[in-house]
Amino acid sequence: MADVTAQRMLKKRFLNRRFLIQAVLVTFLFGCVVMYYCPMALRQLSFYKSSYKTDIINLNHLMKREFYEQNCFEGRLEHTLAKLPDNLLKWSKAYHRTCQILWKKFHTIYVVNVREGKQNFPQNFIKVVRHWLADNEELLKEAYNQNVIQVSNYYSLEQTVFNLLRSKRPTSKTNEDIRDYVKRLAVQTKKMCDFCQYKTRTAEDIFGRVEGLYSVSASNTFKLEKWHSLFLSKKHDPTDLTEEEFLDLFNTSLKWFKKAHSLDKDSCYPMMIYDTLPKGGASQFHPHAHGFLASQYLSHMGIQHKAAISYKDENDSEYWNDLIELHHALGLSVMLGDAVAISPLTPVREHEIIILSTYPGTDLFRLFYYVIQTYYHKLERMCFSTGLGFPVMRPSITTLPAIIRIGTRGQCNSHTNDVSSLELYMMQNVHVDPYIIIRDLQETVEKLMKTSSLGNEMVKLNYD
Ligand SMILES: *[C@@H]1O[C@H](CO)[C@@H](O)[C@H](O)[C@H]1NC(C)=O
Ligand SMILES: *[C@@H]1O[C@H](CO)[C@@H](O)[C@H](O)[C@H]1NC(C)=O
Ligand SMILES: [Zn+2]
Repeated sequence: MADVTAQRMLKKRFLNRRFLIQAVLVTFLFGCVVMYYCPMALRQLSFYKSSYKTDIINLNHLMKREFYEQNCFEGRLEHTLAKLPDNLLKWSKAYHRTCQILWKKFHTIYVVNVREGKQNFPQNFIKVVRHWLADNEELLKEAYNQNVIQVSNYYSLEQTVFNLLRSKRPTSKTNEDIRDYVKRLAVQTKKMCDFCQYKTRTAEDIFGRVEGLYSVSASNTFKLEKWHSLFLSKKHDPTDLTEEEFLDLFNTSLKWFKKAHSLDKDSCYPMMIYDTLPKGGASQFHPHAHGFLASQYLSHMGIQHKAAISYKDENDSEYWNDLIELHHALGLSVMLGDAVAISPLTPVREHEIIILSTYPGTDLFRLFYYVIQTYYHKLERMCFSTGLGFPVMRPSITTLPAIIRIGTRGQCNSHTNDVSSLELYMMQNVHVDPYIIIRDLQETVEKLMKTSSLGNEMVKLNYD
C-alpha cells in the first residue's frame, strides 16, 4: 500500500515536472510567434508608420510639365511670379484629380497674400519715375497701383515679399566691369594667400588632412562646431574651377565627413556652407567651403527638417516630394538625373535655387556647379552664398535629404549691402522673378550636359 502511494507521488511529481517543461516550451514558442507577428501587424497601423525615413526624393512619379499646364492651368501657365495669383485661380478650377490634390497641398503649405499699394506723384516727380522705368507707360501705370505679393510657408514660417517693380528702381552704378573686378582681386590676393600655402598656413585635423586630386582639407583654426574644417581647391580663383575640380572639392568634403564620423559616432549631422568673394561673405578670395559635423541639424537646416516632420505628421505625405511637385507643376523646376533644382516660392535671396536629391551624389553636385555657371555666365552675378545639408550618417528615424540652397548676393563690387534689417529681423525680400533663374538654368544644363564627360561617383556617406 505504502509502495503504491509512493509510486503515485513520484509519478505526480514527474508529471508536474513534465508539465512545467511543456509550459515553458509553449510560452517560449508563443512568445516567439508574438514577437515575430506583432511588429508586422503594428507596421500596418498608421501610428507605427509615423516612424519616418529619409524622404526618398522620387522624381519618377512626376508627370511631364505639359500635363500640369494642360490639366491644372487651363492650358496656359504664366511664367512670371507677378501672375501667381492668376495661375492659382486657374488651378482652383481644375477638374483633374491630380491637380485638385496638388492644389490642396499648395494651400496646405503656402499662403499667398496680394497687398495693393496705391499712391500719387507730384507733377515733377512723375518725370523722374518715368525715367526710372525707362519711359515704359505700362510700368508707370503699375507704379500708381502696386501689387505686393507675399508668399509664406506655413511649415517653415518663411515669408518672402515680392515687388517685381522694385527691380526697376535706381541702384548705385559701379564703373568697374565685374569681371575686371574679380581679375583684379585674384592678382591682389594671390601672393599673400594662406590657402595657396595651406601646408604651412592652415591647421590640420587630429587625423591629418583629407586630400583629393584638386582639393585638400584643413582644420578651421577658430571653430564653430566640434568638427569644423575647410575644403580648399588647389586653384586660387573661385570663378575658374572646372566641373571636375568642383566635384573633387565636395568629394573631399564627403571623405572628411566619413573620417570624422568614424572617430566620433555621435557627431552624425553633416552640413556645409560655401561663399564666394567679399560681398558673398567669404573672408578669403581662394575657394573654400566649410564643413560641420554636428550632433543635430543647425538652425536653418533644423527649421527645414522640422517643417518636413510637422507636415508629415499632419498630412501623412512627404514634404520634399510635395514641394518638388508643386514647383514642377508651376514651371519652377529643372531636373538632372536623380537631382532636381527648384526656384523656391519663398526665396531668401535673389536667383535662389534649392537642389534636392536623396543622397549627396554626382547629379546633385553637377547641378550645383551648373547653377554657379548660370550665375557667372548668364546673370553676371559672381557673389553667392550657399547652405548644404546632408542625410544623417546613422540609421535615424528622421533626416533631411541632401539639400543645397544657394542665392546671389547682389552686385559684387557695389558698396550697398544687400542685407539689411528687413531680412535680418523682419522678412525675406526679393525683387527678381524666380522664373528668370529657372529659364537660364535650364539652358545652362542643356548646354553643359552635352560636354560633361564625368562618369565618376561621389564618395557615399553611408552608415556602415
Ligand atoms: C494637411 O493637414 C492640415 C491640418 O490637419 C489640413 O488642414 C490640410 O487640409 C491637410 N492637407 C492635405 C493636402 O491633406
Ligand atoms: C570621389 O572619390 C572617390 C574615392 O577617392 C573616387 O573613387 C571617385 O572617383 C571620386 N569622384 C569624383 C566625382 O571625383
Ligand atoms: Zn590662394
